[in-house]
Amino acid sequence: MSEIREITSARFRRVGAHSHIKGLGLKGLKALPVADGMVGQVKAREAAGIIVKMIKEGKMAGRAILLAGPVGSGKTAIAYAIAKELGEDVPFISISGSEVYSAEIKKSEVLMQAMRKAIGVRIHEYRQVYEGEITELDIKFEKNPYNPYQQVPVGAVLGLRTKKEEKRFNVGQNIAIGLINQGCRVGDIIEIDAETGRVVRLGRSMEAKRTADIEAERYVPVPDGTILKEKEFVYTVTLHDLDEMQARRGSFLSLLFGGGEEKEISPEIREEVDTKVKELVNAGRAEIIPGVLFIDEVHMLDIELFSFLCRAMESELAPIIILATNRGIARIRGTDYKSPHGMPPDLLDRLLIIITEPYSRDEIKKILEIRAKEENVKISEKALNYLTSIGEKHSLRYAVQLLTPAYVIAKENGRDEVTLEDIKKVTKLFSDVSKSARYLKELEEKFITVS
Ligand SMILES: Nc1ncnc2c1ncn2[C@@H]1O[C@H](COP(=O)(O)OP(=O)(O)OP(=O)(O)O)[C@@H](O)[C@H]1O
Ligand SMILES: [Mg+2]
Repeated sequence: MSEIREITSARFRRVGAHSHIKGLGLKGLKALPVADGMVGQVKAREAAGIIVKMIKEGKMAGRAILLAGPVGSGKTAIAYAIAKELGEDVPFISISGSEVYSAEIKKSEVLMQAMRKAIGVRIHEYRQVYEGEITELDIKFEKNPYNPYQQVPVGAVLGLRTKKEEKRFNVGQNIAIGLINQGCRVGDIIEIDAETGRVVRLGRSMEAKRTADIEAERYVPVPDGTILKEKEFVYTVTLHDLDEMQARRGSFLSLLFGGGEEKEISPEIREEVDTKVKELVNAGRAEIIPGVLFIDEVHMLDIELFSFLCRAMESELAPIIILATNRGIARIRGTDYKSPHGMPPDLLDRLLIIITEPYSRDEIKKILEIRAKEENVKISEKALNYLTSIGEKHSLRYAVQLLTPAYVIAKENGRDEVTLEDIKKVTKLFSDVSKSARYLKELEEKFITVS
């Protein structure tokens, strides 16, 4: 069964701009020249490796990192690699500076929500449950009071057993409906929440008779102990999830079903959540997992957002913040002041800065080779060399983007390999940014002289 799923997912795999990056390509703290899809940029990758180590050891709280370097030098790629190195357990949220400006939500609220999404809380909850293998199931139906042709479940007689005991229960309508919805039958292992009556089918009993040679089933052992027991549940949620739940006064379960319409959350709600989380942590019932918030194109933030960010970084429950920019000296948005990277000095003071350098010709070529493989594009040596020159002259990003359109042209002409001609053709069809900008500027000037 699982093989079929793997084949389809491989066929429809989405190839994102950084999908070839599997990690920082380090051995210990040393960068290998080419590894994990990463090429060159040795110093920046080694610095990033130290950051990853500090994050894992919990020594980065409340600090921020800035990735600064020219267009297409791999800043975003390195941030992705950091996320990969941190693993699934550490929340990694990525936004672009321009994303915070929305018509529906205040810009600081967008930033705040992103920060709280980047902090995980692992909660241990103890609940009373009835758990066992179904030995008997008799659902009682009655006529629907509004429609005599329809039958509705009104209750059930349910037999459950563990290795230790066996009991019969009369259960109400809610649980009966739950049993039907979960498709429960004799020989299944189930769990019923004592408080809410929620039924969860855990699988088929290992001791139950198998009805077919191959079954898409999960077999679980018959539970030990008593039928009614206290069980530990572990949920990993983010502070933002908890904020939303608190705002809706929902239960943990509403997380699984609740809709995610975006709205603002009041500071009072957040305070309540923080207090509760701290209480849980103190009681040993929760752990906080500080994650990472990556803000790309950070020069798009304005002065208000920068001061908001500075303040938020100070708070106890703050994620690690990684920023990226390709601006040198720039105007701070919302002011007339110019400053390094378009950021205010109080923020700059708190940053660890990692610089990414422009690539050498060989590095560009290697990255293009890796991308071609990633995008399943075959390319001739001549074409690759020419594309490398384009990467050197214009930008790496532009060169990378030409790969797939060139392959479309090659295929259209009955070839399975991109040739020099295909690349030349595609550069005529697709312009790089500086060319398109220059073109429009020239046009504007023409219009001005005409009028
Ligand atoms: N060292 C590298 N190894 C492998 N691939 C890389 C490397 N650096 C960049 N790339 C790839 O090259 C492309 C451009 O890099 P990226 O988008 O990371 O640049 P950037 O510095 O974020 O640019 P910008 O300033 O425009 O945001 C991406 O597809 C990226 O994955
Ligand atoms: Mg980028």
